[in-house]
Amino acid sequence: MKTILVATDKPFAKVAIDQIEAIVKEAGFKLELLEKYTSKDELLKAVEKVNAIIVRSDIISKEIVEAAKELQIVVRAGAGYDNLDLEACSANNVVAMNTPGQNANAVAELALGMMVMAARNMFNGAAGTELMGKKLGIHAYGNVGKYVAKIAKGFGMEVYAFDPFVSEEKIKADGIIPVANVDELYKTCQYVSLHIPATETTKKSINYNLLSKMPKGATLVNTARKEVINEEEVLKLMEERVDFKYVSDISPDAKDQFLKFDSRVFFTPKKLGAQTAEANVNAGVAAARQIIDFLKNGNETFRLNK
Ligand code: 3PG
Repeated sequence: MKTILVATDKPFAKVAIDQIEAIVKEAGFKLELLEKYTSKDELLKAVEKVNAIIVRSDIISKEIVEAAKELQIVVRAGAGYDNLDLEACSANNVVAMNTPGQNANAVAELALGMMVMAARNMFNGAAGTELMGKKLGIHAYGNVGKYVAKIAKGFGMEVYAFDPFVSEEKIKADGIIPVANVDELYKTCQYVSLHIPATETTKKSINYNLLSKMPKGATLVNTARKEVINEEEVLKLMEERVDFKYVSDISPDAKDQFLKFDSRVFFTPKKLGAQTAEANVNAGVAAARQIIDFLKNGNETFRLNK
């Protein structure tokens, strides 16, 4: 009997686990659970005999892949797959997939929630501002970016987007204003919401030069990855510009230095964007279904590695 392991440092909601379990059982497979593990050794041991793994931001390194001798497929229940060593997966004949779009609305709602929070000075009681009529720049118009744009329009924001991989026509068709380059997006928008993945090109790309172009009363919203931020340079900018705010769902490495900016910064205690019952069900169930369809029928839709 094939075994599917759900290995999540940050557990799914119970309702999601129940649904995953029912689907796995119905397919005739066995489900194992490793939640809130505290060491890599626990993960190394848990993967030894399983045929498939579902993870979230859990690190699936070369070491883990090599320890999983029976592994055929690993699915990142979520969008960003910078936690998977795709090369190691390919070298060990392991298919790697993600579940794009499944948690997008949850992340988008948090992005807007943090925008409201920033506009109201992190709820410190001082008079804030409103989102209506303000310009919002969506940096990367993928699944999450699209939801952020849609919700922001409901707030009456003027929404702009930049994405080198999405055509101007597609952006325009959603009633969003496309801009020609990244500099223009930051120059135009008082709010910028980040939706870029962490890659060799994007790491530390959100820097002083780019952010200093933002108009007065600027707010940077990060529900993407901390790696894309050049923390040292953002700190320098925040020293210089008392109007600049930074809200993030991913705590920076230099969190203590940021916290001195008081009601100009906010960080969630743990990455919470996708942490809703709905997103857990969507992404977890999609991951389980993709695994079953691969193991039974060889379906490789959503495969990430070659
Ligand atoms: C994603 O890439 O899907 C999001 O960042 C959510 O990550 P999480 O599953 O670790 O909460």
